[in-house]
Amino acid sequence: MSASIRFLMCAPDHYDVDYVINPWMEGNVHKSSRDRAVQQWTGLFHILKENATVDLVQPEKGVPDMVFTANAGLVLDNTVVLSRFFHKERQGEEPFFQKWFEDQGFTVHVLPKDLPFEGAGDALLDREGRWLWAGYGFRSELDSHPYLAKWLDIEVLSLRLMDERFYHLDTCFCPLAEGYLLYYPPAFDAYSNRMIEMRVPEAKRIAVDEADAVNFACNAVNIDRLIVMNKVSEDLKARLGEAGFQIIETPLTEFLKAGGAAKCLTLRTTEPLEPLHQAVATIETRTIQLAGHLLDSGLINRALDLIVEGGGTFQVLNFNLGERRQSTSSADIRVTAPSHDVMENIMAQLIDMGAVAAPEEVCDNPLELVLQDGVAPDDFYVSTIYPTEVRVQCQWVRVQNQRMDGAIVVSPLPTGASASFIAECKLLRDLKKGDKVIVGVEGIRTVRKAEARESRADKEFGFMGSGVSSERRVELVVEQIAWDLRRIRDQGGKVVVVGGPVVIHTGGVEHLSHLIREGYVQALLGGNAIAVHDIEQSMMGTSLGMDMKRGVSVRGGHRHHLKAINTIRRYGSIAQAVEQGGLTSGIFYECVKHHVPFSLAGSIRDDGPLPDTKMNLIEAQEDYARLIEGADLILMLSSMLHSIGVGNMTPAGVKMVCVDINPAVVTKLSDRGSVESIGVVTDVGLFLSMLVQQLGRLTSAYKVVQKV
Ligand SMILES: NC(=O)c1ccc[n+]([C@@H]2O[C@H](COP(=O)([O-])OP(=O)(O)OC[C@H]3O[C@@H](n4cnc5c(N)ncnc54)[C@H](O)[C@@H]3O)[C@@H](O)[C@H]2O)c1
Repeated sequence: MSASIRFLMCAPDHYDVDYVINPWMEGNVHKSSRDRAVQQWTGLFHILKENATVDLVQPEKGVPDMVFTANAGLVLDNTVVLSRFFHKERQGEEPFFQKWFEDQGFTVHVLPKDLPFEGAGDALLDREGRWLWAGYGFRSELDSHPYLAKWLDIEVLSLRLMDERFYHLDTCFCPLAEGYLLYYPPAFDAYSNRMIEMRVPEAKRIAVDEADAVNFACNAVNIDRLIVMNKVSEDLKARLGEAGFQIIETPLTEFLKAGGAAKCLTLRTTEPLEPLHQAVATIETRTIQLAGHLLDSGLINRALDLIVEGGGTFQVLNFNLGERRQSTSSADIRVTAPSHDVMENIMAQLIDMGAVAAPEEVCDNPLELVLQDGVAPDDFYVSTIYPTEVRVQCQWVRVQNQRMDGAIVVSPLPTGASASFIAECKLLRDLKKGDKVIVGVEGIRTVRKAEARESRADKEFGFMGSGVSSERRVELVVEQIAWDLRRIRDQGGKVVVVGGPVVIHTGGVEHLSHLIREGYVQALLGGNAIAVHDIEQSMMGTSLGMDMKRGVSVRGGHRHHLKAINTIRRYGSIAQAVEQGGLTSGIFYECVKHHVPFSLAGSIRDDGPLPDTKMNLIEAQEDYARLIEGADLILMLSSMLHSIGVGNMTPAGVKMVCVDINPAVVTKLSDRGSVESIGVVTDVGLFLSMLVQQLGRLTSAYKVVQKV
């Protein structure tokens, strides 16, 4: 027995499951047996008494969970951080525990009101005393961790709990002597698991499976090489034995009904103070501002969910609710994250939503030099499709060449220019040694239109409703697109079509050709295949060997597309084939005839390829970007590959219509957070024929109006 090790326990005189504050209590209200509870508690008491000293705190009526003394507070040396219970059902325990600690001569620290922290249930010292593991997510707030670091002068490692059944850290995590750790990894998020793996070498990590975890094997009391727990599988017992631990099982099933076992029933009050302590908490806190139709558009909910899902916590400092239908609201939100990396990740997403992470007093964004051509500094800010502004010399400066997945470079302009600095998006491959790139997320904002009152999801996928658009819904969206095409053409605007070979296979050639002839298309983007099959159809009447008139395969038809490629290769290019009379109809014929530029980007599955197909993908990307520039509307027709490529290089504000038979593709393409996207789930040939019909109707209506 080690008399110098002390535990605090509380007899179960008033113990019962009186309420439900965790999943274990559900269905167990008043179902525990007092006699059995007393018997089981006494069993544990005697085991501990043989190996350490046990102090007792007087049980009190009306606070049945006081038996779980682990939640009294967190003790280190003679200092205690008193618990602030999350649930009001347990808050009544606080004064009783406070009195006990004060009577024993501990220095007691009390957290601010409304800052929950549940003591040694959620904070476990490494058994070598090197740092404190602290849990958050259910009962304790992340914001309490810096207080622990300060008051106990120790490094705090924050772990996020993800599984409601393991609501306290000590239900799924048990540091053992000599740096061993018994734990249930699925109870933690990926970031926490990585941190555990960085701190505890693999040979010392003893992961338990779900069966042991739900028997509360991790809710164990460790005294040197002894582990006391409710129940353990033979396999786990053997693994612990190999690591040199002796196990004592003692049934605590009556307490499991309330969600606790051996560790919960005890509080170790003799935690040694290691001489090399250092107060460190890697926790970061920042304040963001959000403005817009925060409630109606659901923006505030999305922002708060994003913070929590990203591993952070929040506190809404101010919320000014717009008073009228058209007025916007604003909010200041304090975001706390367990580390710098987690904070940067959350912030980047909040900025995409339009949050401003920088108070006006930030005068310049942090910049770092590019040290190697084509390689950005580690922490570079990754640009998005949204118009972005950055702080340069105390001014907000609009970023040029906005596109997704680039870095933002700030450079001085020659003297005499109206502004002295320019900020622009550059692709990684275009970065040059000496460029200054924005790092981190401070001093960046995206300029977003205030979202409409109705939710974005309703609007964006309005035509997809139950997943697949009904015929009437497709008709409605076609009417709207026809109207847009007509308006853009009449105003001299720009429509870019991105298409895959399915356009040809589904009989779309005549309709897309019509749109090009009538001036509705200003650029066409695709791959080798759309051109090959268009030319095959024009020359041989088949698309991928199918007779397009009769809808049947033609004998030897599978060779047709290679013959088409070969013919164009002989002419040297599609344009030369048209000029020399070798190609006389089809989509690409119309493009050449009507001076509509096109770009064909190569891929690994291309046959031939056609001489026009750019097999150098960097050149192809640049060509696409050049043709997209200034677009008012992009019509994406059944090509996942090229549509995604185009989506990534298009700034927000350009309307995009994505037509595909597969709802998942439509969702992926439309879900760029852009309010301008419309998804249409339908056959592309049918869509094009309806569009041409609708444009025809618009034209006749226009003529009638002119006559009148
Ligand atoms: N012979 C060739 O050289 C050849 C042949 C095929 C593809 N390719 C190349 O492979 C790459 C990818 O080709 P891709 O764009 O065809 O493939 P993709 O998989 O990127 O896109 C095809 C899309 O069409 C959709 N679709 C299928 N049937 C549809 C219908 N009836 N109506 C509406 N949507 C429908 C699918 O759901 C899919 O999203 C391209 O670069 C292409 O040029 C080359």
